[in-house]
Amino acid sequence: MSSPSRNGVAVRPGNGIATVFVLCLLGACAGGKESEVIALTGGNPERGKAAIRAYGCPSCHTIPGVFGADGLVGPPLGGIAKRVAIAGVLPNTPENMIRWLQNPPAVNPKTLMPNMNIPESDARDIASYLYTLVD
Ligand code: HEC
Repeated sequence: MSSPSRNGVAVRPGNGIATVFVLCLLGACAGGKESEVIALTGGNPERGKAAIRAYGCPSCHTIPGVFGADGLVGPPLGGIAKRVAIAGVLPNTPENMIRWLQNPPAVNPKTLMPNMNIPESDARDIASYLYTLVD
C-alpha cells in the first residue's frame, strides 16, 4: 500500500491543515513570487488583479495593491497567502481557493459572500493574485 502523502502533499481527508503546513514549509504559500503563484494556481496575477476590479471585490474587501479596494463587508485580504483557512471553513490550498471564488455559498450556505458565477479561468487568475498577498 502506498502512502497517500508520499509526494509530500497530504491528501487524506481531514488532513487539510497539515497540507497547508507542508505547502508553507515548501515555501509555496509563503512565497508570493509571480512564478510561484502561477505554478500554484495556473492563473496569472496581473489578469487576476484586473478581474478583481471587474467583479467588484473591492466594494466588500480591502485588498492591498488594488486601487480603491477598501471595502469592509468581508475580511481584509492582506496576508491571505499565509492564512491557514478560507472563510473559516476550507483549508487554504490553491484548489480550495479557486473553488471558493467560483461559488462561496456552495461551500458554506451561510456565507455572505455571493456567488458571482466566476468561471474557473478567472478564479485561477484571481487566486494567483491573492497568493501574492503575503502580508
Ligand atoms: C458582497 C460582498 C462581497 C463581495 C462582492 C466579495 N466578497 Fe469575498 N467575502 C465576503 C464576506 C462577507 C466574506 C466572509 C465569508 C465567510 O466568512 O463566510 C468573504 C470572504 C472572502 C475570502 C476568504 C477570506 C478569509 O479571510 O478567509 C476571500 C479570499 C474572498 N472573500 C475573496 C473575494 C474576491 C476575490 C471577491 C471578488 C471576486 C470577493 N471576495 C467578493 C464578502 C464579499
